[in-house]
Amino acid sequence: MSTRYHIGVCSLHLLLFSALINVLLQAVEMNAIAVPSSSCYVFDNSSHIIDFSSWIGHPFEYEEKGSDLVVQFCKDVESRSQVGYVDFGRFDKFNYFVSGSGHADFVQDYYNGDLTSCEHSYDKLGRTAQVNVMCRGCLNGQCKGGLGCICNITHESSCRSCTVIVDLAIPCEIQGPRVFKGFTVGFHPRSWEIVYNGLTQLGYEKPHRAFSFSTEQTSLVLYMTAIASLSSFVQKPIIQVFPENGLEVKVSGSGATGSYPTTLSPSMLMIDWRCDIARDVPYAVNVTIPVADYEPINFFLAKMCEKRQDVQGDYMQGWATFGILSCLFIVGSSLFCCGGFVYKTQVQGQRGIDALPGMTLLSACLETVSGAGHSYPRAEGFNDAIVSEASWDRPSSSSSSRPTRIPSEKNYGSI
Ligand SMILES: *[C@@H]1O[C@H](CO)[C@@H](O)[C@H](O)[C@H]1NC(C)=O
Ligand SMILES: *[C@@H]1O[C@H](CO)[C@@H](O)[C@H](O)[C@H]1NC(C)=O
Ligand SMILES: *[C@@H]1O[C@H](CO)[C@@H](O)[C@H](O)[C@H]1NC(C)=O
Repeated sequence: MSTRYHIGVCSLHLLLFSALINVLLQAVEMNAIAVPSSSCYVFDNSSHIIDFSSWIGHPFEYEEKGSDLVVQFCKDVESRSQVGYVDFGRFDKFNYFVSGSGHADFVQDYYNGDLTSCEHSYDKLGRTAQVNVMCRGCLNGQCKGGLGCICNITHESSCRSCTVIVDLAIPCEIQGPRVFKGFTVGFHPRSWEIVYNGLTQLGYEKPHRAFSFSTEQTSLVLYMTAIASLSSFVQKPIIQVFPENGLEVKVSGSGATGSYPTTLSPSMLMIDWRCDIARDVPYAVNVTIPVADYEPINFFLAKMCEKRQDVQGDYMQGWATFGILSCLFIVGSSLFCCGGFVYKTQVQGQRGIDALPGMTLLSACLETVSGAGHSYPRAEGFNDAIVSEASWDRPSSSSSSRPTRIPSEKNYGSI
């Protein structure tokens, strides 16, 4: 009975725990505006992202005289007939999906189709296609809702059907968040590994172990850039660590104070982190950069903490204190020495080596060490020599009342 009760409580705890984890993960996923899983997305004229990834490859057909025109969404445009098919260009990820004007909400360009008899058309790209995406159905009211259709096609008359213009009505996906376009975050002044064009790149949209920073790495510098005209929208970053305790994070640099980054002068966000509590799972550092009028920039850095790290600050502080004390000692000694020397030369009238402070003491020590206990003849002679030298020196000194005192001070052995 009690075992069953325990198992019951255990599984309840497990259930609650996994529910909590799920909630956390969902929160993580909802936060960052991650780069869509494909290049089939577009920004509307107010910078909101619209992701058409689920439409990739979806075919739309239009019957013409003797052939069918087929648009495979975000893939290619081709003309099919009994004799085969002619390629009218393929979709490429480099900015060929843009917001439109007039009756088209968005415009897609397809390039590099078949060359035959179109060798000299438009930059030698061969056949090309332009697909006008219309979110509100065709101009004549057809194809509202549903899976959409091709309203109309126009073959460009200048060159013999080297370019085709297709009006395509499809229900547009739900308008996504407003993206702060042009904003980048990277590990170098001109790189964008973490955030590109306002979109958080794969690996940083939530904490990934594979993208984590090692235990040994104690600091990190991130460079941020923004379009100059929009740079004043960028605000101070907010840092959150999960779990809250165990990883100490400090931010500094121009990016941390909220200075405006531009493309020419990126701002720096320096992150210093230190492991207080070791863990098997990396810590998640949630970095949020609020942007006025836009969805905030949000990304996650994963940090490993395999072992506890010493307080580097204290260690450095110890050395700093030692340095200052040493410095003070040297300065103090010099001052003492000079002061003593000046005092002895000026006030006591001593000269040369004798005027050095502590010389009496030093001589005494030397004498003791060299074994000169009580007046040895050699030591006496040595002393006499100095004394006589001092006396010989004396006459050149100004004062005449002092000479008598000098010999009395010269008894080095008498401490
Ligand atoms: C990350 O930090 C931001 C700003 O403090 C917060 O709004 C958001 O909820 C955090 N994300 C997660 C997953 O906790
Ligand atoms: C933006 O596009 C919408 C439809 O796609 C249009 O109604 C609106 O006038 C456009 N705004 C500007 C400023 O071009
Ligand atoms: C199809 O396109 C042609 C050329 O632009 C135009 O004259 C015609 O009215 C269009 N038809 C429809 C139904 O939109």
